[in-house]
Amino acid sequence: MLESGNGCVLQTRTLSKRYGKRLAVNKLDLEVAEGDIYGFLGPNGAGKSTTIRMILTLIRPTEGSVQLFGTDVRSDRAPLARVGGLVEKPDFYNYLSARKNLEIVSALYGSVDKKRIDEVLAIVGLSDRGDDRVKAYSHGMKQRLGIAQALLPDPALLILDEPTNGLDPHGMKEVRELIRRLNAEHGMTIFLSSHLLNEIEQVANRMCILHKGELVVQGTVKELLDKEAVTVRITAEPKEQAASLLQSMDWVNYTGEENGELTCTIAENDLARTNGALIEAGVQVSGFSPRRSLEDYFISITGEAEAL
Ligand SMILES: Nc1ncnc2c1ncn2[C@@H]1O[C@H](COP(=O)(O)OP(=O)(O)OP(=O)(O)O)[C@@H](O)[C@H]1O
Ligand SMILES: [Mg+2]
Repeated sequence: MLESGNGCVLQTRTLSKRYGKRLAVNKLDLEVAEGDIYGFLGPNGAGKSTTIRMILTLIRPTEGSVQLFGTDVRSDRAPLARVGGLVEKPDFYNYLSARKNLEIVSALYGSVDKKRIDEVLAIVGLSDRGDDRVKAYSHGMKQRLGIAQALLPDPALLILDEPTNGLDPHGMKEVRELIRRLNAEHGMTIFLSSHLLNEIEQVANRMCILHKGELVVQGTVKELLDKEAVTVRITAEPKEQAASLLQSMDWVNYTGEENGELTCTIAENDLARTNGALIEAGVQVSGFSPRRSLEDYFISITGEAEAL
């Protein structure tokens, strides 16, 4: 991952979008620095795609501004030439080859540079399949072709809206590796939306959480996730004995009982000895689930199944 430079590649100020009564995006202040892989995390309906559409000037904000490379896009659209974007699912002419699809998009940018088409096919690992019709492509290949399309102008900033959506774990890994490579080898700043905390954690250096159109937190992944004290939920029998044992362990901060589970905060290094001490004292531990508080919070807003 590149070190973040000082340059602010993307900045939004009080960016908002209203649809009738619904405030889809509410006063967003985002800051993406040069060299970032910026994770834009939020559950379904949080406002990720709406924000990305405003950044790419596909829709007009109700309020607020977007600056790309220090220029307000309301007054000057030139910086958009340095931005590649893929919003939601890519659309293709399915009966045409991948290469032909890329030629059509290239023509929209002004010229068809065959060399660049070969390059982007190679970057996303589709060189061998470039002449196949898109209808013969797997979902993962279509996602990669979508990224290839966004790469055509050799952008300094690449914006990807849930590029791993619907992919299997292997396909997700391929896209993550591609993102890392684009950042490290091609020097691209990447703005990546996702509804999976785990995915953002693996690939991003900075992140924010969006919930119901509002920014909840923004910062480096390290400061938000790495050094956190861990909240642990413990299911154990007999419960009273487990509770008093936990209270007697000076490295444990026992916080009480919630929905039948005992809760406490413990440093990551002390998890194993806590569990061990309970078992050694003859307590039956049937559940011991450590979670960082941001993870806990995110799971609470997305629903258990989504975030895992
Ligand atoms: N064109 C539109 N007209 C009316 N409401 C819209 C429109 N586009 C989005 N919305 C609403 O704005 C909110 C945010 O939607 P958005 O698509 O930006 O969320 P998202 O974070 O991308 O969600 P997902 O993870 O499902 O893609 C939702 O409540 C949605 O119903
Ligand atoms: Mg979306």
